[in-house]
Amino acid sequence: MMPTEHANNFSFISRQLAEQQQLNRYRQRVCIGAGVTNEHNCTINIAGKHYINFSSNDYLGLNNHAEINKALQEGADKFGTCASASSLVTGYHYAHQALEDEICQWLNKPRCLLFSSGFSANLALFHALGQQGDTQSSNTSQAQFYLDKLSHASMIDGAYQSNAKVKRFNHNNTEQLARLLEQNNAENTLIASEGVFSMDGDQAKVAQLAQLAKQHNAWLYLDDAHSIGVIGEQGQGSNSITDIDITMATFGKAMATSGAFLTCQAELHDYLINFSRHYIYSTAISPAIAWATIKSIKLIKQAQWRRDKINELSALFTRLLADNIQLITSQSSIHAIIIGDEKAALQVSEKLKQQGIWLTAIRPPTVAVNSSRLRVTICAHHNENDIKYLAECLNKALK
Ligand SMILES: Cc1ncc(COP(=O)(O)O)c(C=O)c1O
Repeated sequence: MMPTEHANNFSFISRQLAEQQQLNRYRQRVCIGAGVTNEHNCTINIAGKHYINFSSNDYLGLNNHAEINKALQEGADKFGTCASASSLVTGYHYAHQALEDEICQWLNKPRCLLFSSGFSANLALFHALGQQGDTQSSNTSQAQFYLDKLSHASMIDGAYQSNAKVKRFNHNNTEQLARLLEQNNAENTLIASEGVFSMDGDQAKVAQLAQLAKQHNAWLYLDDAHSIGVIGEQGQGSNSITDIDITMATFGKAMATSGAFLTCQAELHDYLINFSRHYIYSTAISPAIAWATIKSIKLIKQAQWRRDKINELSALFTRLLADNIQLITSQSSIHAIIIGDEKAALQVSEKLKQQGIWLTAIRPPTVAVNSSRLRVTICAHHNENDIKYLAECLNKALK
């Protein structure tokens, strides 16, 4: 066949894919088959083979929980699987309202807003708060955002795509942030970070950030995607440490459903409903999912044993790992083992796969160059033998 006259159209696509392969950064999806992952079982079925899964964000082991599944069915029977409209048209169902109320009560917050994903909630918030002023002028009404360097891609995208001025402070470096805030003369200031960092598992210095925000008349925004459910006596995440001005968390991790929420004060809530394009021009989340998420929160509040189990198994894992292994210590489910080179990380991941362990290698640009890693997630549905086996295989593979 003759080449078409558009042969060079978008030629960066093939160029960049080839480069990605050459750098050992090429990504492919794996398809998870039907299986039995639930609160008692942490294996996944890939191409008919079962692996112990150490790459899941189902931190509390609630995915496929019988009571959540039942609530999902009940929600579908009552409200349908689809909202059938955006929230400002006819997509805001009783299930959504009840879920927002449940979250407000749980976190002791005045208002809550639901989004179809954490990614869109982050974009929505930064766009909305960065709306005043324009990037060309130096007027003080232009918002100033300060973000931790390791903030999630959706926070970075939201911040840089907004009209705000953006500065990123070194990871968890509150001294540097304090110095930046001293020099700040913007009228509107936001400090943003993650409660638990997605690729390192360590926590933000939540109390210090809140103190700095108060001192400098700024708002504190925390993305609690990896803290919600896991941190705090009732799993309230960073709000169990101190009162956070604006919190976002996804339902797709410990909460075991999908979508996201954002909590804030009444006026900002009203503002987002009126001006947030990501909220206004998007179909509301499935009401059946919203109904199931209420059940999930009820289980999360009661299930301290799940959080205790994560802590116990995490301590066991740290104890059993050989001294030569570079592990980032953490109080969360996430335990990062830094390998460095992309190829080396892929090789260890492949070795573990041969032993029946699924542990995805995380490579740039998700993490910094030369910090490719194995991101181990320890969940409430793992048991001691799973952890002992993982440590044994890692110690051998990284000898
Ligand atoms: C810290 C953080 N924020 C936001 C998101 C996006 O949330 P969602 O998966 O609901 O889009 C993720 C990952 O999924 C995340 O790790």
